Amino acid sequence: MKQTNKPETTIVIFGATGDLAKRKLYPSLFNLYKTERLNEKFAVVGAARRPWSNDTLRETVAEALHNEDKELVAKFCEHFYYLPFDATNKNSYHELNSLLTELDEQFNIPGNRIFYMAMSPQFFGTIATNLKSEGLTNTNGWTRLIIEKPFGRDLTSAKQLNQEIREAFSEDEIYRIDHYLGKEMVQNIEVIRFGNAIFEPLWSNRYISNIQITSSETLGVEDRGGYYETSGALRDMVQNHMIQMVSLLAMDPPIRLTPEEIRSEKIKVLRALRPVSQEETGKYFVRGQYGPGTISGNEVPGYRSENNVDPKSHTETYVAGKLLIDSHRWAGVPFYIRTGKRMKMKSTQIIIQFKELPMNLYYKEEDKIHPNLLSIHIQPDEGITLTLNGKKSGLAGGTTPVKLDYCNNCIDQQNTPEAYERLIYDCMLGDATNFAHWDEVDLSWNFIDEISKAWHKDGENLTTYASGSMGPREADELLENDGFTWWPIANEVRKY
Ligand code: BG6
Repeated sequence: MKQTNKPETTIVIFGATGDLAKRKLYPSLFNLYKTERLNEKFAVVGAARRPWSNDTLRETVAEALHNEDKELVAKFCEHFYYLPFDATNKNSYHELNSLLTELDEQFNIPGNRIFYMAMSPQFFGTIATNLKSEGLTNTNGWTRLIIEKPFGRDLTSAKQLNQEIREAFSEDEIYRIDHYLGKEMVQNIEVIRFGNAIFEPLWSNRYISNIQITSSETLGVEDRGGYYETSGALRDMVQNHMIQMVSLLAMDPPIRLTPEEIRSEKIKVLRALRPVSQEETGKYFVRGQYGPGTISGNEVPGYRSENNVDPKSHTETYVAGKLLIDSHRWAGVPFYIRTGKRMKMKSTQIIIQFKELPMNLYYKEEDKIHPNLLSIHIQPDEGITLTLNGKKSGLAGGTTPVKLDYCNNCIDQQNTPEAYERLIYDCMLGDATNFAHWDEVDLSWNFIDEISKAWHKDGENLTTYASGSMGPREADELLENDGFTWWPIANEVRKY
């Protein structure tokens, strides 16, 4: 459903005074403007509770873009308008509608509207309902909804939220953001798999022994203690980002590159994900919470001493898990995932470990042969490394691992767009491929709910890991029980 590649639209940002808008949305929109993917026919309306004026919003946007060309920023800011907004008051919607109608005329926009929910999730449903009942979705153009996480906190609340937004928007008008799907190398997973004759034939339980996905952060909860206490790493990272990466790695090749075909293959993976019952949770999942420790030479406090966190909190800041996919392709191949805050380094990396050769001519006890690995570096470095075995140089013989490295952001650093930039642009073009379909959200909550129920019941049983470490020992045992270990993650951007 791609349309013109210079979309003409108004974007209403609910939560325009918030952190996400400043850190991600304004810079992403500016990049679209700077690279001329947005033409002059666009307007942005910031809506939030604070009694700001157009000028306050424009100053905030300019501040978020302080490193950019001042003249261009000033021109860009002329497209921004602010409306003090009370989500529960119908008058706010009437005022918004009048402003949108005026802006359509002023900027010559054909009634296209994106409503971006970038604020507290408690109002997502109310806003969607009112947008419809007060006529804001009734225009001559198209209307779309971008919705940030959290999309519910369990299956029941996600279903309820979905019902509310579905009353105002159809499924193909809803764009559920998972910003990992906008990352360059996450999008590259499909290309690496389906664009290379050498990988796809090996991509199954015949040749792959296990897959490891790590997403580690050095930051703690920062100022989000209030939200994080109700979420924890399982809901914050696993239900969405980690499961999305699993489905991209495990999906069958789609018959075409349309959103429907790609999503349908991803959904099949989630349907084949083996459920983990509450009783079995301890066997498949490990959780931990960071204690005090040292990161890059600085001492940092434990989770329980963070702002807005209960000093006796049992919220997990780390999760490791073993996922099994009961399909012809994946039966018997564990997908190990781990994610946590206040870990040793910031890194997202996927490692595909291939099986050993049936008979290894070079095997010596003191000189073990290294399994072949395909590492996909998602961030901060972007690229792939293929680990093979080569001959040790010299007369002694034997083998040594050799690495074939491709670094994407060494070559293309300037041009790699931000995840949000790409996703907002996709939404403007009507391309929902890299957004979560309701069926994916439904199936992933269904899987996650049992684990969170088990942990809720067993509130006391939580391991602690030192800040600056790679997580609790129990996460290593998860793999050791199967005869594997976590491969080390790359710890610095590779320079060429
Ligand atoms: C967000 C989580 O979705 O992803 C945060 O809410 C987390 O807690 C962030 O820090 C990680 O994203 P990235 O892009 O920095 O890996």
